[in-house]
Amino acid sequence: MSLTPFIDPLPIPKVLNPKERHKCFTYYEVTMKEFFHQFHLEMPTTKVWGYEQQLPGPTIEVDEGECVHVKWMNGLPDKHFLPIDHTLHGAGEHMPEVRTVVHLHGAEVEPDSDGYPEAWYTNGFQQCGPCFKQEVYKYPNDQRPTALWYHDHAVGITRLNVYAGLAGLYIIRNEQERLLNLPAGKYEIPLIIQDRSFNQDGSLFYPRTVNNPTPNLPDPSITPGVAGDFITVNGKVWPYLEVEQRKYRFRILNASNERFYRMKLDVCKEQPFIQIGSDGGLLEKPVFLDEITIAPSERIDVIIDFTDQPIDSSIIITNDARTPFDFGTPPDPQTTGRIMEFRVIKSTEPDPSVIPQFLGKIKKFQECEATRIRDITLDVTRDRYGRLKFLLSNHGFIDRITENPILNDIEIWRIINQGIAVHPIHIHLIQFQILDRIPFDADSFNATGQLRFTGEPELPAANERGWKDTVQATPGFVTRLIMRFGPYTGRYIYHCHILEHEDYDMMRPFEVVPPKCKYTPSGNCPKCSESFRCICE
Ligand code: C2O
Ligand code: CU
Ligand code: CU
Repeated sequence: MSLTPFIDPLPIPKVLNPKERHKCFTYYEVTMKEFFHQFHLEMPTTKVWGYEQQLPGPTIEVDEGECVHVKWMNGLPDKHFLPIDHTLHGAGEHMPEVRTVVHLHGAEVEPDSDGYPEAWYTNGFQQCGPCFKQEVYKYPNDQRPTALWYHDHAVGITRLNVYAGLAGLYIIRNEQERLLNLPAGKYEIPLIIQDRSFNQDGSLFYPRTVNNPTPNLPDPSITPGVAGDFITVNGKVWPYLEVEQRKYRFRILNASNERFYRMKLDVCKEQPFIQIGSDGGLLEKPVFLDEITIAPSERIDVIIDFTDQPIDSSIIITNDARTPFDFGTPPDPQTTGRIMEFRVIKSTEPDPSVIPQFLGKIKKFQECEATRIRDITLDVTRDRYGRLKFLLSNHGFIDRITENPILNDIEIWRIINQGIAVHPIHIHLIQFQILDRIPFDADSFNATGQLRFTGEPELPAANERGWKDTVQATPGFVTRLIMRFGPYTGRYIYHCHILEHEDYDMMRPFEVVPPKCKYTPSGNCPKCSESFRCICE
């Protein structure tokens, strides 16, 4: 199939209206439904799944500190329309096919509202997973304003559910940020980037198996990553947006399964991205960039100033990131090498917005504040069918918990990437800071398990020196993160956000434990010997 680029206008996801506004909380209801969506003017409609029959889902906008309750309802059919690999943990033949659970990515929430992969439920909450606790999720929004996103997280089928369309944006705002006078209203636009492939009849294509399957391979079989042939933004393939000669603020989210994007502005008159925020909110000061690499699940908050761009000029966001990143196939300049187009038109009104020189103070964690350093390796092995299987510290999702930080403790996690791909590592519950990336000898690490550094630590890039919940863990480097675990105790997860890695099996639970319960290294409370959750206090 070939499609003409830049003929569909960019849709803007609708802002969701709450069902009820109470004194002390706002209540939303969101239903997941199957419906037909048109990805491109020249295409027939495509069966998708979406929140509130929208793709991407509606944007939820809240104020910092506003207590929000959401009832996420599964109104989906019983049969999945994408190929389920029943050999994956939690997705066996005896399990209901269509299971969902919603995670608000980047949010500080209690464990029972975090969307644990085994807290899934089916249509009408008829069947529930072993960790299911409640129908209504509570979001206190006690965190810095930023763009979060909600998406499905059901164990063993997250990659399929998100690919089917279950993702949307969630924006936290506050007064302080409004006073900065950044571009706002119709000049603040979300760009949710996802790549997709289609069959001839317009239906979504998701591979059943790898390219050259061996005879005994299960069918369907998960693959090491899925990248699409078409780039969609806000649900349209290669859309265009008319922009006035003025500043715009774009809230960009990479909601793709595997694909990274290295974005540039293809324009005659030079024009940088001015990045003002990262996953966890505003940076200290704006960073001017000619290119930005965004990994799956990362968000960037950027201003583009079209003031000096000539009327009728066309500016294309291009992509030159290889897949897998950063050693695989380069994108085709005519297709996956393009994301969307801006067309410059005359302004309708003066532009009162500003780009502040200083956005706000970010208090840096000090290394000496950390009570614990943990090493996490990124591993690739083969399963009994010879398929690639990705692990964290050689453990999978169902292995016992090895990370049990004490509430409010600061820890340093060293992500050791001895492989060849960049993995976007995401930790639930908290926002972290990147300390540095230290080059090491991967071969000798693989052979002996000894870390031997081979160079000086590299400080994070200027646009990474803010709050992050996902980090690009670079091969050949130990990426060091520092974070405080709180404000809740309980069980969460961390994982690679390449969804095919997350499902198989690069996802691990961790448990934040109460300060009074001192765990032995085995993970048991010495007093009550209850594993993982102390009952003696
Ligand atoms: Cu965006 Cu655990 O995920
Ligand atoms: Cu998350
Ligand atoms: Cu990965």
